[in-house]
Amino acid sequence: MSLILAIESSCDDTSAAVLRDDVLLSNVIASQKVHEQYGGVVPELASRAHQQNIVPVVDTALAKAGVERGMIDAVAFTRGPGLLGSLLVGVSFAKGFAQALGKPLIEVNHLQAHVLSHFIREDENTQVPQFPLVCLLVSGGHTQILLLRSHFEMELLGQTIDDAAGEAIDKAAKIMDLGYPGGPIIDRLAREGNADAFHFATPNIKGYDYSFSGLKTSFLYFLRDQLVADPAFIETHKADLCASIQKCIVDFLIKKLERAVVACGARNVAIAGGVSANSLLRSRIQELGVRRKWTTFIPKMQYCTDNAAMVGIAGYYKFLKKEFADISLPPYAR
Ligand code: KG4
Ligand code: ZN
Repeated sequence: MSLILAIESSCDDTSAAVLRDDVLLSNVIASQKVHEQYGGVVPELASRAHQQNIVPVVDTALAKAGVERGMIDAVAFTRGPGLLGSLLVGVSFAKGFAQALGKPLIEVNHLQAHVLSHFIREDENTQVPQFPLVCLLVSGGHTQILLLRSHFEMELLGQTIDDAAGEAIDKAAKIMDLGYPGGPIIDRLAREGNADAFHFATPNIKGYDYSFSGLKTSFLYFLRDQLVADPAFIETHKADLCASIQKCIVDFLIKKLERAVVACGARNVAIAGGVSANSLLRSRIQELGVRRKWTTFIPKMQYCTDNAAMVGIAGYYKFLKKEFADISLPPYAR
């Protein structure tokens, strides 16, 4: 039996979790509101907020788990990729905590953690994926199709050659002046809109790769042309625009994923990362699973965006392999 404390601070969420083996005991997330007024994450403000949050977040996670500091067997932390200043707060805290207790450190890659979030158990009845598993990882910074043969053998089948899907959604929301982060806002507004009202084309990209930067630009030009004729165009067609751009992105994501899964013959399919919170993507993956007779894994909302529970589960599987990190390890941005 092992007790693992996990720390996540790669972007704008400060999070700590405690796991008993692969069972989650607590997962505390402090989201930073300070960035909203700037329409994006301000790195300096993020590091400062992490510094303010980290001690109370860790204390709360330990208390909720009913675990004393001294009982922890290892400290897992996100080493990267992410914002350097933000990562540094979590990395330094983890090092100090582990050293004070004389316990080992475990470094975790943020992207692997998103994918492994499907192996978090809340109790003995939680169904976890079987290998081979294909996972579509869609976040604010990444869009990748990964083939997993085991927890840490991840083969990259395809990825975006420019912007991430989340970036395209956030940019579309910014162009329409909807607020930040755009993903959840577009998702909500799209529910009242007609997804076939406007058509946006996605590019032809080879294999299982994606590209979203052209879509972003064509959306911008389309709106600019409409606004010349009708300055109230966005206001009048907001819901239809959200529904149409969301459908375009989700269709593109699904099309490549379906081809990749068919080609490699996997029967377990998952989505992970912030954009996997999107309601259209979630329902489309579910339908696809029924049609193709795949077992699909859609993360609970609290495991879609950044959280320490996923860092803890990745840490647990490294703990089993005794893959410990040196105290001198620096964080990495990419
Ligand atoms: O994984 P994440 O929390 O941070 C990164 O590691 O990037 O992902 C954040 C991204 C943002 O682009 C945000 O707009 C998007 O996830 N997102 C959504 C939804 N909720 C969050 N996108 C679409 N629909 C949502 N409901
Ligand atoms: Zn993330």
